[in-house]
Amino acid sequence: MVRLPFLSSTRGVPEAAKIPRHIAIIMDGNGRWARKRLMPRVAGHAKGVDALREVIRTCLDRGVEYLTVFAFSSENWRRPKDEVSFLMQLFVKSLKLEIERIHRNNMRLRVVGDLAGFDKPLVDLIRDSEALTAANTGMNLTICANYGGRWDVMQAVDKMLASSPGVTSGFSEDDLASHLALSFCPEPDLFIRTGGEQRISNFMLWQLAYSELYFTDKLWPEFGEAALDEAILSYQQRERRFGRTSEQLVSGEPDSSVSGHA
Ligand code: IPE
Ligand code: IPE
Ligand code: MG
Repeated sequence: MVRLPFLSSTRGVPEAAKIPRHIAIIMDGNGRWARKRLMPRVAGHAKGVDALREVIRTCLDRGVEYLTVFAFSSENWRRPKDEVSFLMQLFVKSLKLEIERIHRNNMRLRVVGDLAGFDKPLVDLIRDSEALTAANTGMNLTICANYGGRWDVMQAVDKMLASSPGVTSGFSEDDLASHLALSFCPEPDLFIRTGGEQRISNFMLWQLAYSELYFTDKLWPEFGEAALDEAILSYQQRERRFGRTSEQLVSGEPDSSVSGHA
């Protein structure tokens, strides 16, 4: 009997042609969308909220269990002050406006990142929103804000060491992974980045190890139901091997690692 690790999806092969359980998205291209229309960059961020609403609704409809979106990276503080401040205000406004709907739809909201970087009213709003939806059992919606994949690994290392005083070696991947800020969810099956760039930009570095990557030139404000379905279709046409051969997957032959030859 194979004991699947509690959170790693890299050792069990999920059923093919399924709806991805966990979709992670870098919502990129808001600024360019606005610039193309001769509008200020921030107009693209406002429009981006509409796209997110449509994507959340589509994920709910399709039965996605976890949707994780990158809203603000630890590197985005480098942007002009006015843009950062607009983004913070938009976050507050959108959360206030949407939280009831999120709750009504039985979704559980989490905001993941270094919240110490935010003003107290925003942190309070985040905590209240998380508390309101904490007992919900439907889709898990996670917003990564002031998040960075390296930050996540480093804070997990600190916690792991603190939880085993005096131990300096011999830790396993699961020891570390259980302290990651996103340890509550399985690793993403499908990663999507809009906006044409083909990079990870410090998003979920640990968890994307075996995710299927999907890049589209569509700018985030243009992304919606049809575009998401296209990404899911692309995912469904892939063969996830996790190191195995294609023949093993077809025959259902067990891994050598199961009988101890890891
Ligand atoms: C993504 O869109 C939103 C955030 C990073 C907050 P951008 O603002 O990066 O848009 P582009 O990439 O400049 O077009
Ligand atoms: C990544 O987009 C972060 C978010 C979408 C929140 P960026 O636009 O900041 O990424 P880079 O700077 O092009 O890599
Ligand atoms: Mg960008």
